[in-house]
Amino acid sequence: MQKLKTGRSVISRARRCLVRSDSSSPVLHRETPGGTGTFLDANERMQTIVCCQRPVAGAGRLTDSGAGRALVASGGKMTDEPEGDPTVILVTGGTGNVGANIVRQLLDAGEQVRVVTRAPGEHSLPGEAEVVRGDLSRPETLPAALAGIEQVFLFPVFDAIAGFLRAGRQAGLRHVVLLSSAAAGFPSRGWIGEQHLRAEQVVASSGLPWTFVRPDAFMTNDLAWAPQIAGGGVVRGAYGEAALAPVDPRDIAAVAVHALLEERAGETYTVTGPQSLTQLDRVRIIGEAIGRPVRFEELPRDTVRQQMVQHGMPAPAADELLDGLAARVGEPAATLPTVEELTGRRAFTYAEWVSLHRAAFAPTVTS
Ligand SMILES: NC(=O)c1ccc[n+]([C@@H]2O[C@H](COP(=O)([O-])OP(=O)(O)OC[C@H]3O[C@@H](n4cnc5c(N)ncnc54)[C@H](OP(=O)(O)O)[C@@H]3O)[C@@H](O)[C@H]2O)c1
Repeated sequence: MQKLKTGRSVISRARRCLVRSDSSSPVLHRETPGGTGTFLDANERMQTIVCCQRPVAGAGRLTDSGAGRALVASGGKMTDEPEGDPTVILVTGGTGNVGANIVRQLLDAGEQVRVVTRAPGEHSLPGEAEVVRGDLSRPETLPAALAGIEQVFLFPVFDAIAGFLRAGRQAGLRHVVLLSSAAAGFPSRGWIGEQHLRAEQVVASSGLPWTFVRPDAFMTNDLAWAPQIAGGGVVRGAYGEAALAPVDPRDIAAVAVHALLEERAGETYTVTGPQSLTQLDRVRIIGEAIGRPVRFEELPRDTVRQQMVQHGMPAPAADELLDGLAARVGEPAATLPTVEELTGRRAFTYAEWVSLHRAAFAPTVTS
């Protein structure tokens, strides 16, 4: 018996269904999630499909695509599938850099998505997404967000995780995809790594199946340079020669979406961008994108630390970030193939990310 390699569209659209052959074409049947089902294909070959989690929207029959060995929904009638009540994936942090991309990608995959935010109405979210008000730090605000939810993308509001999971468990949650940090896996974790590692431990000790997504530095962090670049074309900071492998939030989201749709419980995915780039490199790439030279001006570490703390960063986090940069001077950053391995496409380059945000870096027009 051969296990079929199911494509994401099937996984996402045909979950909690088994496939059975009682005629020439296999018919979907609801079953317990997590197992496998079998059917005879049109050529009387026994095939196996992983038991899926969500109902097929509008189409009931599956056909074996043959050479591609993926099953595809091809119309027909559902059997044993109750009408309505499809499962919804809850996205916390859905108004943020990563979460907004998760919302978009889940909707594109045909999923139903609920976003919980403290400020509905203040964010532009896709109309297809359900938006509810809730604050992760206040579990009493979460019943509407958690109703009927089995999976969540969890933004790490550190002190709120245990309470959220208790409420989630009672509501029937059965898979948590946690946004963590690559720093949780560093040999010397520092303050940021410790916070994220503790968050992972809280999730793991809840007993709920989990997946941890550990991204390296976000490309979006460099939007902090936008006012300096737009204003005068000079970025001031410390350790310009420090190399990172910054990752596009679209790629972090794609990894999280993979974890949700494939229910990859027990996996930890460390995610980097595809290139090792110093701050000088990144500033140059931005300059190329906006068609204007941009340069990096080195400032003393203490000056930069003071600015970070003034902007609200906890002092230990500022120290850790600066120590991290200091350690990365002259050392190329490691790049990992996680995005390509999980999604089948290469990760976005820094130049591709910049091209999306060119307007933010473009020179300010003064009248
Ligand atoms: N930046 C990096 O280089 C980096 C690297 C590794 C890991 N990380 C992790 O990624 C996180 C940042 O992700 P991001 O850039 O996608 O976030 P972001 O753009 O800063 O957005 C924060 C999100 O969290 C939500 N949120 C915050 N507190 C909440 C609460 N009490 N209740 C409900 N929602 C709450 C916000 O929702 P509303 O405001 O709509 O309520 C918003 O959607 C960091 O905190 C860190 O844990 C970052």
